[in-house]
Amino acid sequence: MRVAISSDHGGNNLRKEIVNLMNEIGIEYQDFGPHTDDSVDYPDYAKPVADRVASGEFDRGILICGTGIGMSISANKVKGIRCALVHDVFSAKATRGHNDSNILAMGERVIGPGLAREIAQTWLTEEFEGGRHGKRIQKITDLEK
Ligand code: RB5
Repeated sequence: MRVAISSDHGGNNLRKEIVNLMNEIGIEYQDFGPHTDDSVDYPDYAKPVADRVASGEFDRGILICGTGIGMSISANKVKGIRCALVHDVFSAKATRGHNDSNILAMGERVIGPGLAREIAQTWLTEEFEGGRHGKRIQKITDLEK
C-alpha cells in the first residue's frame, strides 16, 4: 500500500509523528509537506494528496491540520475521495469497514500523538467489509454525478 500524506502548519508536528509510525510499521509513503513552519493554506496541501488518491497513484491519503476539518472539507470536494475526520479508534475501524474511506483526516490541536498513532495504525490496517456496504459506497459515488 502506498500512502500520500500532507498537512498545513497546524499539523506539522503530528504529520511527522505519523511519518515516523509509517516508517516503524513498514508502510510506503510520500510526504507532500509542508517542509517549513510557515503559515500555509490547507486546501493547497489537501489537493496534491486528494488528486493522487483519486487518480489511483496512491492507495490512501492522510491529511492533518489544526482541527482536521479544513483538510477533510477540502479533500471531499475531489471526486472519488471519501475522507473521514477521525479522533477515536472505534471510528477509525468503522470508517474503513463501512465507508471504505480512502483519506484519513486528523487535527493536531484536538488529540495527542499517542491516540493519533493508534487511530492511524488502525485505519491503515483495517479492511473494507464490502457486502451491504458496497451498495452504499456506490450510492455515494452516484452523488458525484
Ligand atoms: C490554521 O490556523 C487552522 O485553521 C487549520 O489548521 C485548520 O484547523 C482548519 O480547519
